[in-house]
Amino acid sequence: MANTGYADPYKRRRRWGTVLGVVLTLGVVVGTTAWYKLFREVPQTIDGMEAYYRYGSIGTEQEEGIPYYVWIVLPRMFPEHLPGDGGYRSLGMAWEADQPTPVGFSKKTIGFPRVGINCAACHAATYRTAPEATPIIVATGPSQTFDPQAYLRFLSAAASDPGFTPGAVLEHIRDEVQLSWLDRLLYRFLIIPRTRDGLLEQAERFAWTESRPRWGPGRIDPFNPVKFHPDLLGLDPAADTTIGNSDIMPIWAMDRQEGYSLHWDGLNDSLTEVVLSGAVGDGARPKSLPVERLAELEAFIRHKEPPPYPFLDQLDKELAAQGEAVFRQNCATCHATDGARTGTVIPLQEIGTDHHRLEMWTTEAAERYNDYARDYPWDFNAFVKTDGYVAKPLDGIWLRAPYLHNGSVPTLEDMLEPAERRPETFYRGYDVYHPERMGFIHQGEEAQRLGFHYDTREPGNSNAGHEGPQFGTELSAEDKEALIEYLKTR
Ligand code: HEC
Ligand code: HEC
Repeated sequence: MANTGYADPYKRRRRWGTVLGVVLTLGVVVGTTAWYKLFREVPQTIDGMEAYYRYGSIGTEQEEGIPYYVWIVLPRMFPEHLPGDGGYRSLGMAWEADQPTPVGFSKKTIGFPRVGINCAACHAATYRTAPEATPIIVATGPSQTFDPQAYLRFLSAAASDPGFTPGAVLEHIRDEVQLSWLDRLLYRFLIIPRTRDGLLEQAERFAWTESRPRWGPGRIDPFNPVKFHPDLLGLDPAADTTIGNSDIMPIWAMDRQEGYSLHWDGLNDSLTEVVLSGAVGDGARPKSLPVERLAELEAFIRHKEPPPYPFLDQLDKELAAQGEAVFRQNCATCHATDGARTGTVIPLQEIGTDHHRLEMWTTEAAERYNDYARDYPWDFNAFVKTDGYVAKPLDGIWLRAPYLHNGSVPTLEDMLEPAERRPETFYRGYDVYHPERMGFIHQGEEAQRLGFHYDTREPGNSNAGHEGPQFGTELSAEDKEALIEYLKTR
């Protein structure tokens, strides 16, 4: 048997076994390394809810996160695609010293460090009491400075730039961090090319915005991106010309809005659904949605109080008391916490403000969103189509300027004038507060230099409506003054 001329079949099988073993081991090593380098999720370490609100993940990094080191070098590589100096700050982001990201952006490692957007990108206000004062950041306040559309445009311009090559990006990353040999390889051949493709895909998905008026700082079209996303509601942007441009809302003291219709048009009355769909709209997907963390954020926004008016020491208390009577008489039905119509939808014919935002949300979109998360333990059921805009409580009203759902009226003083006497154009996005007019400074050199030219004649930007005897525009000058003094205390 020793010399049959045939190889020992067992030996042969053993040899293949060894090869298979090596391949499998290699496969496991490669697989594990790939998983570790690309998908391993490292929990963030953040102390306290306020900090979590500013920098915590809402699950957007997985699907729409940008590799942190690529993201951080883009403004240095392509300053010409930004609206001004100062990197991302020129887009109106608030960036605290010693933080790796601006307020509203989370840094989280999923394989490699990634940047995702969170609620505070839009729902955190900044204001200054004088041009030389440091900006004060108010978590849950409406951002008036962040320009999400300019951010999207910057990312797409950077990704389309011929200078966006793995080599060039890596060269800039070298100034930021020492990457290992393996990491450099992964960045060069996988992460950077994939980032570019992803950003170009995103630009394509937002192509419909090019044919509609600019959002400008402090505004987004909140639901058209969700309607048109093929993985979300899947509606056809070519068959839809609606303009949803909408002013960012504050999300403080949400407990006082229990049972109220939410969003400007009241398209949902469940805070839990609005919070979850907020995260979905920002790029979280059912599998990455951190439902428990979002429940904590919901608890946070329920109880967070708006900040007091910063010039309260100058308040004329007597005048404010007179103003409270004017408010009770004229506004309380719709705006007091106990008002009969507060938190309900006031029909468009009655309120008379711009119709575009209302038309953007359709019955079909509501039905599709209610169908979206069917197979998950959480679900959407409360999306509806309405016929008007919600009368909101006026908590922290001083910091909600510019006013109305499209941010078309710069000050409270102007709100109490009929539309033909409200400014036709003004600048928004400058965060120095006017001490008397209840609004941000919106004219003049600095407002012009740093702000966005808002033209009320553009579709979606009308400043009409909320006028007439019912809405206080015909009050006496004295009553108006008193009313404004009172509203400083809200
Ligand atoms: C890109 C900007 C942006 C981000 C990010 C964002 N929102 Fe909003 N949010 C808006 C805008 C704009 C509105 C008003 C939209 C409308 O109805 O037209 C709004 C409305 C809301 C409302 C309704 C408030 C009310 O009084 O009716 C809630 C609640 C809310 N957002 C919560 C969240 C939460 C929670 C997150 C994070 C999970 C989030 N949003 C992320 C822009 C944003
Ligand atoms: C019939 C109900 C109703 C009455 C009465 C009413 N309002 Fe309003 N108010 C609304 C509605 C609805 C909106 C939202 C309209 C929109 O954004 O298109 C609104 C918006 C506002 C806003 C802008 C809120 C923001 O966050 O931008 C202010 C300020 C305001 N009202 C003040 C007043 C004052 C002051 C009075 C009394 C003189 C008053 N309103 C009377 C229904 C009412």
